[in-house]
Amino acid sequence: MTTTTQIIREQFLEFFQSRDHMIIPGASLVPSNDPTLLLINSGMAPIKPYFTAEAVPISPRLCNVQKCIRTNDIEDVGDRSHLTFFEMLGSWSIGDYFKDVAVELAGDLLMGKLNIPQSKLYATVYKGNDTIGLAYDEESHRAWERLGFKSNQIVPLGDEDNLWGPAGDTGPCGPCTEVFIDLGDKTGIGSYEETGIFNTRRYIEIWNAGVFMQLNKNADGSYAPLPFTSVDTGAGLERLTMAINGNENVYQEEPYTLLLTQMPSVFSQHECRVVADHVRAASHLISDGVSPGRNGREYITRRLIRRMETIAACHRTKIPYPELLNVVQAKDGRNHEEFKKSDALIREVVAAEVAVFSRTLSSGLKAFDKVTRKLNGSAELPSQHAFNIVTAHGFPLEALEQIATTRGLRIDRPGVELLMDRHKALSRGAPKPK
Ligand code: ALA
Repeated sequence: MTTTTQIIREQFLEFFQSRDHMIIPGASLVPSNDPTLLLINSGMAPIKPYFTAEAVPISPRLCNVQKCIRTNDIEDVGDRSHLTFFEMLGSWSIGDYFKDVAVELAGDLLMGKLNIPQSKLYATVYKGNDTIGLAYDEESHRAWERLGFKSNQIVPLGDEDNLWGPAGDTGPCGPCTEVFIDLGDKTGIGSYEETGIFNTRRYIEIWNAGVFMQLNKNADGSYAPLPFTSVDTGAGLERLTMAINGNENVYQEEPYTLLLTQMPSVFSQHECRVVADHVRAASHLISDGVSPGRNGREYITRRLIRRMETIAACHRTKIPYPELLNVVQAKDGRNHEEFKKSDALIREVVAAEVAVFSRTLSSGLKAFDKVTRKLNGSAELPSQHAFNIVTAHGFPLEALEQIATTRGLRIDRPGVELLMDRHKALSRGAPKPK
């Protein structure tokens, strides 16, 4: 039987509440008093001061669902598991229990409450790193064994995978233990037991069962111990639901399934997914006060809307915003009161940004078509032409690349950027290069 993100969200909160965790509200996507972070990217980001003892929580055991934005993977959006906006299920021990209990809770949640068979699960543990004074995480390893994990279901990994954080440039962080689900032989990739390779196309992370917060990263890159140890867990709601349903991509879950049915039929599957992701992300940003603009987080909202508009323009069609926003509102308005209240504002702001961009987009597209008609079958748009379109029409290079890709053309991005740098230097009065 398939489940929904709504059911998993409720089961998760129920579970941690029954284990004495207090449900706290999620925060805005805009960090408050945190210059190290542009947007909230994890459940722990808004509660960082609890880990450093700068603030005291209402209870030492907490849980919630937190809206998150991650834009570092924006080019990967549309593959099976990357999303710009997602909801993170999180639970915390602030100076309370540590590794043993965290692993036990993870087992009870995943295998007990959510009924995922243990045979499909793998746990990664931190390998250790002498330079920061951390040894192999024996404690978590033994805790997984106690839950019945065989030695080949426990995978040691290093800093890149299992040293989590900080969320931002500095702050609390630590080694972690994560749970993956095996998608099985249908992926066409050999198992970890057979190959000794823990291939993340076959194994998907579903639950960061614990970042063991014990270090504070300083601005100079050094680490200092935190005043006490804590546990920070997190799971992407959409991804966890996908795994429980035995699906292989997040777009098989709500609200994406519903958004995909509203897309223009000329869009490719990838374009449909990108628009589904971006419309949800942009609308939550606007709801939290981040209107499109030139800099910082505002530029992220702008970029998301412009990427959608460029996809539509490539096909000479329009994004059905009213219908898409109805879907997002019906799903997310239920869990986020502030989102429901911003419905009219979201529609207004999106429409205004579309209007601002439409003239640039249509003149840039005309110039692009004119130039490409003269290419005589070449697969590359010459850098000078690309540069001309970008500068003469104020057309974003990213949008130009998007259009070129849709039309099967390449752009030499570094080449265009070089011309743009020279152009900027010339306008600042630098001597012309010989
Ligand atoms: N903060 C941890 C993560 O985002 C739980 O994976």
